[in-house]
Amino acid sequence: MNMHFNTSAIIRKKRDGKKLSAKEVGYLISEYTKGNIPDYQISAFLMASYLQGLDPKETTYLMRSMMDSGVILDLSGIKSPRVDKHSTGGVGDKVSLILAPLLATCGVCVPMISGRGLGHTGGTLDKLESIPGFRTDLTIKEFKRQLKEIGVAMIGQTTELAPADKKIYALRDVTATVNSIPLIAASIMCKKLAEDLDGLVLDVKFGNGAFMQEYRRAKQLAQTMVQIGRRSGVKTVAVMTSMDDPLGMNVGNSLEAIEAIESLKGKGPEDLMEVTLTLGAEMLKLAKVRGGIDLLQERIESGAALSKFRKMIECQGGDSRVIEDYSYLPLPKYTIDLMAKRTGYVSGIDCFSIGILLIDLGGGRKRKEDSIDASCGFKIHKKTGDHVNRGTCLAQVCSDDRSKAQRIADRLKQAFSIQSKPIRQKRIVREVLK
Ligand code: URA
Repeated sequence: MNMHFNTSAIIRKKRDGKKLSAKEVGYLISEYTKGNIPDYQISAFLMASYLQGLDPKETTYLMRSMMDSGVILDLSGIKSPRVDKHSTGGVGDKVSLILAPLLATCGVCVPMISGRGLGHTGGTLDKLESIPGFRTDLTIKEFKRQLKEIGVAMIGQTTELAPADKKIYALRDVTATVNSIPLIAASIMCKKLAEDLDGLVLDVKFGNGAFMQEYRRAKQLAQTMVQIGRRSGVKTVAVMTSMDDPLGMNVGNSLEAIEAIESLKGKGPEDLMEVTLTLGAEMLKLAKVRGGIDLLQERIESGAALSKFRKMIECQGGDSRVIEDYSYLPLPKYTIDLMAKRTGYVSGIDCFSIGILLIDLGGGRKRKEDSIDASCGFKIHKKTGDHVNRGTCLAQVCSDDRSKAQRIADRLKQAFSIQSKPIRQKRIVREVLK
C-alpha cells in the first residue's frame, strides 16, 4: 500500500463532507490493522463518517478493505452452490439452527459463520453451545472438510477473518459510532463476503426488538447491504421481518435449541416457520435449486433435515442424544408463571426489554468475558393480537434460581400491554428486497 497518504488530511476530507477514494480508505484500514495508525485517528475518522455519511462507493471501499485485512476463504473445491444467511439480530431468533441443516438437505452448501449475543439480542453460537460438547471453534481446515462431507458447518468468527472489523468494532462500541448504516453494512458484509459465497440472504429486522427499530432506517440498511453484495459479485437478497414480538415461543439458549429441534421435527410455531421458510426459499432461488417452500417442507416431513442436524452435531463433537431426549441439555429447575391481570387483547410486547431481562436472568452477557447460564429463559405463550382472560398464562420464567426468576417475572409483566379492543395482527414478513 502506498505510504505517502497523510492520515489527518484524509480525516479532514471526510470531516468536510468530501468523498474518499478507494486508495485513501484502503490506506487507513490497512495501516490501522498493522498498528501504524493510532486508535484516536481512526476514532476521528469513524465519527466523521458517522456524521457526514459514506456514499455507496465509499461504503464498498470500507467493506472491501476490512475484508482484505484477513483471510478470504477459498471454497472453490466445493461443487454445490454456497449460500449463507445473516440476521441483523433479534430476540428468540433461532432461525439459523433450523435453516442451515434444512438447506443442506436440498443440495445447498451452507458455510455459516455466526456471532454471539450482542446487546439485547441472542447469538447463534451461544444457542449451539448449549448442546453439550458442540464445538463452534473448528479450524478453517476442519470447517472446509465438514462442508465437503455434509454440506453444512456452523462456526464462530475466527481471528483470521476480517481482523480490521474486530478492531474497528471495538472502537465504535466506545465512541458512540455503532449506529450508522454504512458502518454497520460494511461491518456485516466484510465478514460474510470473506466466506466465498455464491449467494447471501439477509434477514433484516425492524420493530422494537431490532437494532434498527424504524422501518425506514432498517430498509436503508438492507438496501445498502444488497448493493454492497451486488457490487462484489455476490447475489444478495434482503428479507424485511418484524421483531415487534419475540420469534417463536422460547427465548434463552437451550430453550431455543429445543424449539429449533421441535421445528425440525415439524412442530415449529407458525411465525418462526414463516420466517424460516421465506428465507429458505430465497436461499434456494439464489442456489438455483427448484422446489421452493414445498421442497423445504418435504425435507422436514421426511426427517431429512433433522438427520442432517444430528450429523452436524456429531461432526462438531456434540451429544446428539439431545435430539431425542432434551434432558441431555441444560434445563432450568424452576418455572414461574406470569398471569394476565385483566381480560382483553395483547396490544404489544416490549421485545427489547425481554432481551435485556434474559441478560439479567443470566442467559446473556453484560460484559464480553461474562459466562452465561444456557438453561434459563422465557416461554412466551401469548403474542400481540392474542385474546387473554384474566388469569391466562402470558409467559413463563425458567431458571435454576427461584428468587431471581420471581424478580424477573415481576419485571416481565411490564413487557406485556393488554387493551380491551381487538388489534389487527401485522404481517411478520414485510418485504423482500432484491
Ligand atoms: N453486527 C456486526 O457485525 N456489525 C455491526 O456493526 C453491527 C452488527
